[in-house]
Amino acid sequence: MLPPTAPHPDDAPSRGLFLALEGGDGAGKSTQGRLLRDWFRERGREVVMTHEPGGSALGTQIRQLLLHGDHVAPRAEALLFAADRAHHVETVIRPALHRGDVVITDRYLDSSVAYQGAGRDLDADDEVRSLSLWAVQGLVPDLTIVLDISPELGRARRGAVHDRLEAEPDGFHARVRARFLALAAATPERYLVVDATEDPDQIHDQVVARLETLVGVTP
Ligand code: TYD
Repeated sequence: MLPPTAPHPDDAPSRGLFLALEGGDGAGKSTQGRLLRDWFRERGREVVMTHEPGGSALGTQIRQLLLHGDHVAPRAEALLFAADRAHHVETVIRPALHRGDVVITDRYLDSSVAYQGAGRDLDADDEVRSLSLWAVQGLVPDLTIVLDISPELGRARRGAVHDRLEAEPDGFHARVRARFLALAAATPERYLVVDATEDPDQIHDQVVARLETLVGVTP
């Protein structure tokens, strides 16, 4: 287990709002991200929309290696996702939060716990989580929105196979799904789980209703 890391000095209570969208492939995260971005902008907030892997220039190169390259050993895969995240947080997310912006990221740390920890069956979920927490100096979202979808429906929705992870069998995606739900159940105050089969506008309404209960979010 990695040692705990000291909190980053930028993480003062007055920082912006950090939101993550998580869920299986084909769950509709980008649609919800756009609806949320527009909702905040209509209310005068600056919004940074970003994603993992690949939310920075270096990350774009790491993304290529991870998703479209040859076989990557599971531990190397976990380290590369963590490296992408470390750079993303340092160069994109923390500066935006420091300015007071809303940051919406399509995937974050829980994707590593679910895909590399549970999906790959490394039997090292806690270590994968510690690795990422070390990489980001403990920065976790104010709210993580999990768009819950079955592996079968996710596969049908995303259509043709796009990357190495999407190409994994349904059993892999079932473990990923179960882990997202378990993470949400463990700290419900930091999560909202929504049924990804619902209408996108209805899902957005649920997200907004939850956001309005978060400190610092004015409707
Ligand atoms: P992406 O094209 O962003 O997929 P999606 O539209 O489904 O979000 O590809 C990201 C893929 O990488 C996706 O299959 C999940 C996987 N992934 C991990 O395995 N671990 C991680 O830490 C992250 C961020 C993504």
